[in-house]
Amino acid sequence: EWTPDNFVDATVAEIKEKVGNDKVVLGLSGGVDSTVAAVLLNKAIGENLYCVFVNNGLLRKDEFSSVLKQYEGMGLNVKGVDASQQFYNELKGLSDPEAKRKAIGKVFIDVFDQEANLIEDVKWLAQGTIYPDVIESVSADGGPSATIKSHHNVGGLPDFMKLKIVEPLRMIFKDEVRRAGAAMGIDKNLLGRHPFPGPGLAIRILGDITPEKVAMLQEVDAIFINGLREHGLYDKVWQAGAILLPVQSVGVMGDERTYEKAVALRAVESTDGMTADWVNLPYEFLQKVSNDIINKVKGVNRVVYDISSKPPATIEWE
Ligand code: XMP
Repeated sequence: EWTPDNFVDATVAEIKEKVGNDKVVLGLSGGVDSTVAAVLLNKAIGENLYCVFVNNGLLRKDEFSSVLKQYEGMGLNVKGVDASQQFYNELKGLSDPEAKRKAIGKVFIDVFDQEANLIEDVKWLAQGTIYPDVIESVSADGGPSATIKSHHNVGGLPDFMKLKIVEPLRMIFKDEVRRAGAAMGIDKNLLGRHPFPGPGLAIRILGDITPEKVAMLQEVDAIFINGLREHGLYDKVWQAGAILLPVQSVGVMGDERTYEKAVALRAVESTDGMTADWVNLPYEFLQKVSNDIINKVKGVNRVVYDISSKPPATIEWE
């Protein structure tokens, strides 16, 4: 019978056996999977686990500093690397969604490779791969390693790709990951976090990315997400976020005519992200959030709510 405690004990023993006294590097994303993987490895090998948490400048408001603090509080050996500017530079002028994803992937690999190279004699790369990821990478386009290869078809593979791989979650599902995390005492809020895409806010800013647009969207997103929490709606929603539209429209503010940006709010119910329904959020809630956004976020004068389901729409707009 599968129980979280048995899983944790068995996996910690396996990791010890497998990596011995070797050093291991792991990229933390702020998400559930990489966090649970890190805590398992930390239990097994402690300071020989080197965690790297990269700020790509596309995270939610204050997320980098608050999550980094949380990691430190959990006793993880973690280094926060603020590479925002590198990401912004690479993204400059790009509007095509796939071009943005590629640029972000490339910078991430460069930054992570550089950090991994600073760890003397590191032997292993740990990943928070879970069972559905394993299946997907077999059936789809060759998976993450194929993506990494396509970024580095000139000049060979990054060094960290040559490390041996340890993936303590590769046999279990998301709900089991959460249960294992809870059994190890990981904070409930962290374990219950909505999924957030790797390219972050870059694929929620339609068109090109500037630090100013990121800052604007972070404010809008924070009002929406905090509102969901305050109204007890956060856990009823599978994923939620805001999208900055490349649209200006006319409004009035006092006696002034404004000509400013529109944002869309999106909240969906889903079990695996493959299909999704938009959530029937209470009108009173939408009204409050809309007022807050327009009153507090400079440069935004219109809020719309996305009532499209997947399929045929996708969850993200890009
Ligand atoms: P879509 O938009 O395809 O999204 O309906 C389904 C789920 O996948 C997430 N998503 C991504 N996650 N890198 C990621 O790590 C990406 O490029 C990416 N694109 C979409 C999305 O947030 C949703 O949970």
